[in-house]
Amino acid sequence: MSRERYLVCPNFCPEAEAMRQAIDQHFAEPDRHQAHLHQVWNYWYVPDLYTYLRTEPEKVIPKPLVDAFQQRLQAWCAQYLGLTEVTRPWLSLYVAGCGQGLHNDSRNGRWAYVFSLTRWDQRQFQGGETLVMKDEVGRPNPRLIEAHAGSSFYDLVPSHFNQLVVFDDRVIHGVRPLQGTMDPREGRLVMHGHIREGGIFAQGALSREALVPVLQEMGQYLERCVTTYGPYYHGLLSLRLQVGSQGRVERIHILTDRILEVDRNCKPATEVSAAICEVFKHLSFPQANGPTYITVPVSLGMPLP
Ligand SMILES: [Fe+2]
Repeated sequence: MSRERYLVCPNFCPEAEAMRQAIDQHFAEPDRHQAHLHQVWNYWYVPDLYTYLRTEPEKVIPKPLVDAFQQRLQAWCAQYLGLTEVTRPWLSLYVAGCGQGLHNDSRNGRWAYVFSLTRWDQRQFQGGETLVMKDEVGRPNPRLIEAHAGSSFYDLVPSHFNQLVVFDDRVIHGVRPLQGTMDPREGRLVMHGHIREGGIFAQGALSREALVPVLQEMGQYLERCVTTYGPYYHGLLSLRLQVGSQGRVERIHILTDRILEVDRNCKPATEVSAAICEVFKHLSFPQANGPTYITVPVSLGMPLP
């Protein structure tokens, strides 16, 4: 079970080294660069917010490698977050002076992903970490009565090579301004995008047809959840129901629980999550010749556009 606002997965992708070599090759021999291959970078400057260079990764990295990364990421998101919609990544480059101001991406997805192709351990620059603000910042909280500063309010997540970081898109975040190098191969290089729910999905013995009546029942219950809890809570609870061959829910795995109280006077969000699980525990499925795993993203509050 995870209520963490961000997750870190090291050694994510076997294609990382090949992708990185393609980037190094792209920037090698600058006196031989050609317009159609190299004039592909968008200098993205939004005053007080974004300063970095970005492109579509397949303009720099062979498409089969980018596709392999995307497939791996989609499988990881389905397995660990219970979510199936993953945007195509941007490839972004940060050299001296680049960074991201504080913002959130509440309307862009449930989670953001950042996959690093930065040679972090050999870096000659300062900054470049992903800053992820703590959930309680900006809310009335007894902890804030005490004096705090700097990293008491946020975590700085290093961009280690071949590391995937996902964080709740609602959380205030940024990239610490980078100083120390103008060489693109020495800078911060990341692929990034957003993740959201694509609906309920099932794996295992029960056929799609056999699941239809129970999925309809679940859909009606989820609608009631939105009506009951939606005004007071916001976020996504991602569940995986383990259904035995006799049709009973044998176990509920909470993949992630990012339901937060909209109002501090509400009962704790964990009680809402527990109440939702309690209902799912009593669902009855048809019998089958083996187990079935049903992944259910439960969304409360304003839906994504
Ligand atoms: Fe962002």
